[in-house]
Parts: sequence; structure tokens; C-alpha cells
Amino acid sequence: MIDKIEAIRKEVDGAKAENASQVEEFRLKYLSKKGILSALMEEFRNVPSEQKRELGQKLNQLKVFVTEKYNSLKEGAGSGNKLDIASIDLTRTATPMPVGSRHPISIVRNDIIKIFSDMGFSVAEGPEIEDDWHVFSSLNFPADHPARDMQDTFFITRNPIEVLLRTHTSSVQTRTMEQNEPPIRIVCPGRVYRNEAISARAHCFFHQIEGLYIDKNVSFADLRQVLLNFARQMFGPETKIRLRPSYFPFTEPSAEMDISCDICGGKGCAFCKETGWVEILGCGMVDPNVLKACGIDPEIYSGYAFGLGIERITNLKYKVKDLRMFSENDVRFLAEFESAR
Ligand code: PHE
Repeated sequence: MIDKIEAIRKEVDGAKAENASQVEEFRLKYLSKKGILSALMEEFRNVPSEQKRELGQKLNQLKVFVTEKYNSLKEGAGSGNKLDIASIDLTRTATPMPVGSRHPISIVRNDIIKIFSDMGFSVAEGPEIEDDWHVFSSLNFPADHPARDMQDTFFITRNPIEVLLRTHTSSVQTRTMEQNEPPIRIVCPGRVYRNEAISARAHCFFHQIEGLYIDKNVSFADLRQVLLNFARQMFGPETKIRLRPSYFPFTEPSAEMDISCDICGGKGCAFCKETGWVEILGCGMVDPNVLKACGIDPEIYSGYAFGLGIERITNLKYKVKDLRMFSENDVRFLAEFESAR
């Protein structure tokens, strides 16, 4: 019987368990009612009494040893037991964990900010809930301008104080000029709201980046060069730009900028409506009335501003056909873009 006890002790010493069910197998084999230890106890009863003392001690020691082994198997690899560590398979693949991806609007916003910050622009932000002064009046909107109308603007209160959701990030221009002395060189990214029916081509909110540079002797040529550099970095070194005269209350002269269609390379296709050009932003020289309204002397300073829609640039870069995809947040759609890692 002494030999048997020794053999069991050796076997238990070498036992391994990789998972809970193997630990349970161990328990059933040695420690359960029908297990090896119980059987030994049975046998012990028939041992001649002169051997009982010695065997009883050995049996007890074995029981303690097996119980300790069982506990260390249960604790698993953390027990510090050499054998347990050896039994961990380090080459096994880890349990897969789903990793999120960055939203395409964030990717493109960051790309745009990077391009402008390399040219010396810093980032300014402002509130989405605004007042009439910062969104319209300071920006030279006439009192009866249609953009103020209920059709475009979400008003929160109307009388006596107008509180509204900003319809463009140009409101951050005003806030920055009110609080800072020129030179001012900023880009203002943010969400804007317009009261439009939601469709593949329009949404009641979207994202803009506004640019503003105010200093002495700033000219339209400076604006053009900065925008050309932006277009080439964003859409490739072969990209051409074209400025068409336009109108915004807060800039004079104003222009809209087109880039050569990067789908057909300017030859004309369905995407650019056979023109070879796609519109990407509005821009112009800041109207002297706006500078005055913000406490900057237009006799000393001049500047330019531009504003672009991030969704529009994202559409061009990634060919997303339906604007609604950006706010539905279907992970299958989002996962098609750069991983967040
Ligand atoms: N704020 C204008 C818009 O929302 C864009 C713009 C900004 C145009 C700055 C010119 C200068 O359409």
C-alpha cells in the first residue's frame, strides 16, 4: 500500500489542467466519493492494526497533497507553479476583440486640419447654439436676408432674443475677431444645422470648416495660393482649381472654388455633370463691414475667409453616394474606413 500511495503522489504531482473541465476531471478522479482517495480509505480499513499508524499518516499527507494540487490547478496559471506556466500555450490566438474605426468625417476633418495647420493656421471652436449677432448680423446679413428665415434656420427662441442653431461656422470668425487682435489665422471645424428635408443629398445637420486670415496687406492672391495648396494636398498634385465669382454677405469679392474632377481627370463624366469640375468651397475677402462689426479697423487690416463642407470633401474622396450614411453609424459602413488603431 505504501508503494501505491507513492505512485499516486507522483501521478498527482505531474497532473496538468488547461481548463475548468480538466480541473473537474482531476477532482472526480482523486477527490470524489468514487475517486482514488476514497478507495484507498476503504482499503485502509482492512490494514492490520500494527501498520495503521504509519499508513494513516501517509494517507493523510497524500490527501493534503492532492487537495493542495487541486486548489493550485483551480487557480490556474496565476498560481506561480512552474508546471502551470509550462502548460500555457503562448502561440494560441487571443480571443478576438472587435476594434472600432474612425468615422470618415473625423478622418477627413483631421486631414483638412493637418493641411492648414502645416500652413500656420490654428484651430478655433465655438458654440453650436448661437445668437443672431454671431451667425447673421455681425456677418453683414441684411435684416431681410432669406438665410434668416424659418425655412433655413432652427430657432430655439425668437422674441425678444433670438437663440438659434448656427447655420455655418462663420460665427466662430466673429467670436475670434471680437476677442483677438490681428494677425489672426484660424480654421474652425464644427457641426452646423439647417432646416432641410433629409435626403441622399441634404441633411438637417452637417460639418464645416471655416478658414480666416486677418493681417496687414492680405490679398486675394494669398487666398488663391492657400486654396490651391490645400486642393493639391487633399486631392493630389495634379489637381487644378478654378474660382468663379459668387456672392456671400460677409465677403467682397466672393468666389466659389471648383477642383478638376478627380474621377474623369477633367474630361467630363456623370459625376461632374460632364463639366470636368466639381464645386468644393466658398471664399472671398472679408467685407470691411464685418471687420468693423468685430472691432477691427478695415483701413489697417484686410483678410480672407473660406468655408467648406466636410461631407462634400468626404464624398469626393471616398465616393459615398448617400449623405445619410454619415449619421446612421452602421458599423459595416464605418468599418470600411481607417481602423482607429
Ligand atoms: N459660410 C459660408 C456657407 O456656409 C461659406 C463661406 C465661408 C463662404 C467663408 C465664404 C467665406 O456657405
